[in-house]
Amino acid sequence: MELLGKRIVLGVTGGIAAYKAAELVRLLARQGAEVQVAMTEGATHFVTATTFQALSGKPVYLDQWDARMPNAMAHIDLSRQADLILIAPASADFLARIAHGLADDLLATMVLARDCPLLAAPAMNRQMWENPATWRNILQLQADGVHILGPASGEQACGEIGAGRMLEPEEIVEEVIAFFMPNVLAGRKVLVTAGPTFEAIDPVRGITNLSSGRMGYAVARAARQAGAEVVLVSGPVGLPAPQGVRRIDVRSALDMHVEVMARAAAADIFVAVAAVADYRVANAAEHKLKKDKGGIPPIELVENPDILAEVAAMAGGPFCVGFAAESRNLEEYAQSKRRKKKIPLIAGNLIQDGFGGDDNRLVLFDDRGAHPLTPAPKSVLARQLIEHIATLTG
Ligand code: CTP
Repeated sequence: MELLGKRIVLGVTGGIAAYKAAELVRLLARQGAEVQVAMTEGATHFVTATTFQALSGKPVYLDQWDARMPNAMAHIDLSRQADLILIAPASADFLARIAHGLADDLLATMVLARDCPLLAAPAMNRQMWENPATWRNILQLQADGVHILGPASGEQACGEIGAGRMLEPEEIVEEVIAFFMPNVLAGRKVLVTAGPTFEAIDPVRGITNLSSGRMGYAVARAARQAGAEVVLVSGPVGLPAPQGVRRIDVRSALDMHVEVMARAAAADIFVAVAAVADYRVANAAEHKLKKDKGGIPPIELVENPDILAEVAAMAGGPFCVGFAAESRNLEEYAQSKRRKKKIPLIAGNLIQDGFGGDDNRLVLFDDRGAHPLTPAPKSVLARQLIEHIATLTG
């Protein structure tokens, strides 16, 4: 419920992507937003108002001359009540009209009369998107403070391939959530590790652990939503990369070590959430081990590099944050890991509270002592961790 209590006017304009706006209403409502839909006449040729009314639970506004508002001023009342106006899809024509301050239908009038921010997700044919006239309008709107979301590239409804596709509803929701977040890490570069590592025994077998990657992915997402540029070095997990985060996939601790060390010097903050295997197999077999070879195959282990400790030891390196998953004595073990690795902050949790699930219970340990966070979904805890990091790094 990351948009709880937020009042969003969703303006739907004419374009094939209007059908995706129905899903967008559902996803915004699922995050707790109160969605009021207003459509242009053009949009009604693609989706009906009834669809949006059913999904938003509110009557849809279409017409400047709508008599439902007692003062006959729908354009003022609807935009004044909103925390945000989101136009999705935003057609080339609609962007042109609002770039020029036209108020020739209800939605354009609401945009002109608003005193809240405006986000627009363009959707159009690639040639329309590339047209200098569209660019003039986009640049004008950006100069006026309008946030343009996307567009994405790919196959278009007309069969052509190029830029101009509306972002997917899930991506738009992420942008809306990020928009409401305080930009506590604006302009910072954040490097995050997540997930387990996989240490090969032979081409098909290996040593790994039960880390789901969810906490690391939540940290990467929260950092991005706080305005940071985020690179996520991820062990093998089945999670999609958070919107706007650059993900680098790795398998073993050695791969993770290489990718992190190549980027650590450029990072301002390093958050090591990955459950890195402490040991790898020294005698990994090139071919699959066969049991009829007689005897139990000996597995020799050698120690993996401690990625976090190595980054923490870099001169002028990033602000380092570790994670400690313990099964008991949380404070004692977490604080001793923090001191041993010489890092300013470590987030500790008891394995029985969080491993693999959606929720977690975290305690942050720094020089000032222990800061227990209220048990919550990992997305919420990740945001609190990011706020704590922002406070410590000024
Ligand atoms: N870490 C790392 N590289 C390693 C091992 C751990 O970067 N080779 C990081 C983890 O991402 C995490 C923290 O260090 O942030 C965990 O510390 P560690 O002492 O390695 O934890 P455990 O392996 O759980 O230690 P122990 O088995 O002693 O409890």
